[in-house]
Amino acid sequence: HDPRRRDFINIAAVSFAGVGLVAVVLPLINQMNPSADVLAQSTTEVDLSKIQPGQAIKTSFRKQPLFVRNLTPAEIAAANAVPVNTLRDPQTLAERTKAGHENWLITLGVCTHLGCVPLGAGEGENKGPFGGYFCPCHGSAYDTAARIRQGPAPKNLVVPDYTFNSPTTVTVG
Ligand code: FES
Repeated sequence: HDPRRRDFINIAAVSFAGVGLVAVVLPLINQMNPSADVLAQSTTEVDLSKIQPGQAIKTSFRKQPLFVRNLTPAEIAAANAVPVNTLRDPQTLAERTKAGHENWLITLGVCTHLGCVPLGAGEGENKGPFGGYFCPCHGSAYDTAARIRQGPAPKNLVVPDYTFNSPTTVTVG
């Protein structure tokens, strides 16, 4: 008997067990975490039919919070009354919504300061001094077009790409 021969067989068996484990585990991990390119192409369908004027919903788009808000006529008027050249990140409500659907304000729910989720989309939440969204982390206040009006955030809440499929459904992304 050559003892070294036995050592080789033991080591080989351990190595095969290791390879087998990797082969089984990797596909599971891939299914649970879609790769970055798959995520970057994903879209989100939103049903608008249940969102009344003055209400908003929080959903998600590409793993980020998404706010979908049905503006009241008064909120639209308030946004349109602001001189655009006084804004930190100058944009009109019309530029941030779709023609014929100016009441639908669709933005990421991510404060442009350091990324907290602003309040104002949920029932009874603090909408802040400009009636849109309020970030509790450091006090950034957004107006009814989700434009930054006060506090440290440099930019308006981001409007993602989206299209209307019907009067009551949009595809975001
Ligand atoms: Fe919103 Fe700082 S993260 S104000």
